[in-house]
Amino acid sequence: MGSQNFVKILAIETSCDETAIALVDAKGGLRQPNFKVLKNIISSQIKIHRPFGGVVPSLAKREHLKNLPVVLQKALSPILYGRTEWEMKEKLNNIGLIAVTVGPGLEPALWTGINFAKELAKKYKKPLIGVNHLEGHMYSFLLKQKAVISKSEFRISNIYPAIVLIVSGGHTILIYQKSLTAWKKIGETRDDAAGEAFDKVARLLGLPYPGGPELEKLAMGGNPSAIEFPRPMIYQKNYDFSFSGLKTAVLYYLRDHPKIREKDVAASFQQAIIDVLIQKTIRAASEYKVRSVILSGGVASNKALQKRLRAECRKNKLSFLSAERKYQTDNAAMIAVAAYIGHLRGRKPRITAQANLNL
Ligand code: KG4
Ligand code: ZN
Repeated sequence: MGSQNFVKILAIETSCDETAIALVDAKGGLRQPNFKVLKNIISSQIKIHRPFGGVVPSLAKREHLKNLPVVLQKALSPILYGRTEWEMKEKLNNIGLIAVTVGPGLEPALWTGINFAKELAKKYKKPLIGVNHLEGHMYSFLLKQKAVISKSEFRISNIYPAIVLIVSGGHTILIYQKSLTAWKKIGETRDDAAGEAFDKVARLLGLPYPGGPELEKLAMGGNPSAIEFPRPMIYQKNYDFSFSGLKTAVLYYLRDHPKIREKDVAASFQQAIIDVLIQKTIRAASEYKVRSVILSGGVASNKALQKRLRAECRKNKLSFLSAERKYQTDNAAMIAVAAYIGHLRGRKPRITAQANLNL
């Protein structure tokens, strides 16, 4: 496994519609872990699922099966093709740990990654660790240490306690993270996730899947105060969310106002969702007296959300941390980070697909 807490990790992620493999050098103890991403390969299936307006699990499985060997070869080689079997083996022999996402996610998709990882681990006699996809999102900001705040300031001891907001296609969760390894979930969505709401409203506006980034583009030219959409649960004294009513409000608004400018609908909807996310996150940060707010998940790449949350954090004297875009949406580098932290803690999660795995 290497000495002085240095491990070369091969991480595999297939929980949804991205086939991702990363090669990451990890070192340091739990007080100050360090990561260097050597390879971060992502093969997206967006085009395959687009005609269906969402991810089709059986198609995702088929595509993962097809893509995994190709993505592995890319992850292990600087040259796309032409590497010999022997050179691949050499690279694999140098790996200290294989990590694989075990959930949450689509069960058939998860199994393809797990079975692939199990075979590799057996063939090359490597330890295998199962990773919770949500822990990957939670720790993803650790992949961008230098650019987040100057290096001297980037000390784990300066970050925690923190509030983490995970906003993705499948999840909207608020976490109180006391330290790198101790946390509790304090709230989550009761129906649609934030990304799901973006995708569904984008669909109402005739935008292709996945709608989040498309809706953001449309919203850029629109007026965010044009329409007063509801801000569900914004003043409720809890940290839960609900976005399905907001989606329905957009549906009825579009039905009743066929001549409305679509970019105003997009901007007003985006504003409503951002208002709720930020209000609850900042309130949690103040109630739990934290030092930082960490934003992650696919929706974290929304510029308007980032900008507002960053400004609110500054106003409230909180550090704001977030990974760069390629580590916010699904990727395997973040799985390597969570694997390393789990490995340092001696955790041994079951290597079996757990579609509803929680934090
Ligand atoms: O984290 P992620 O890649 O996958 C899941 O674990 O779900 O998140 C994907 C979600 C999709 O719903 C997508 O529409 C949304 O993130 N998303 C965005 C933006 N980029 C991705 N939503 C709003 N604005 C964006 N710029
Ligand atoms: Zn995700």
